[in-house]
Amino acid sequence: MMRIDILSCVPSLLDSFFAHSILKRAQQANHVEVVIHDIRDYSTNKHRTIDDYAFGGGAGMVLQIEPIARCIRALQAERAYDEIIYLTPDGEQMQQRMVNQLSLKGNLMMLCGHYKGVDQRVRDMFVTKEISIGDYVLSGGELAAAVLADAIIRLIPGVLNDETSALTDSFQDNLLAPPVYSRPADFEGHKVPEILVSGHEAKIEEWRYEQSLKRTKERRPDLLQ
Ligand code: ADE
Repeated sequence: MMRIDILSCVPSLLDSFFAHSILKRAQQANHVEVVIHDIRDYSTNKHRTIDDYAFGGGAGMVLQIEPIARCIRALQAERAYDEIIYLTPDGEQMQQRMVNQLSLKGNLMMLCGHYKGVDQRVRDMFVTKEISIGDYVLSGGELAAAVLADAIIRLIPGVLNDETSALTDSFQDNLLAPPVYSRPADFEGHKVPEILVSGHEAKIEEWRYEQSLKRTKERRPDLLQ
């Protein structure tokens, strides 16, 4: 079973995300265990503070190394981790290829930053991979960790009902997914493409591939380069 530990100073932001739908079922079926940790639990002062001013001055607080190091080391004493991932806008941009690789791992740790980020020594000493979910800045790494964990978990075999459905996702072959339709076949005169109701499997596959290619050329020509 895969295990994902997420370290956060606002753990309640993450709780409900993993308690619903596919992610809930994936945990109930023992495909994955997601454990959320409150970095504040590893503070040693009575006010449970975990951040402080930046050396050298400047606006914004920095998450301190001590509570984070204690939390990471406590987890490492229990099991070995394949990757310790720090979610940060200056990380490598998340791509489906990277998600596919991570979905094959056993134990992952994800560290969420806040404020101006974490003390650089956390990154130097513990983090093995730094990931950004896009070129914009969020107020914390929690949403980024949720995005990454969701993309990983749905790829674990058995998590999706139809095992082939992850293979036909957009990006899996550098093509966007083709359009899909369901009943009714005619909605106020807007009809489903004839070919899809023909029952001709090979022709349908061919049509879907052409549609994928057309969509990709129109919307994301960069993927075809
Ligand atoms: N934390 C804040 N912004 C982020 C981003 N774009 N990606 C990952 N982590 C972040």
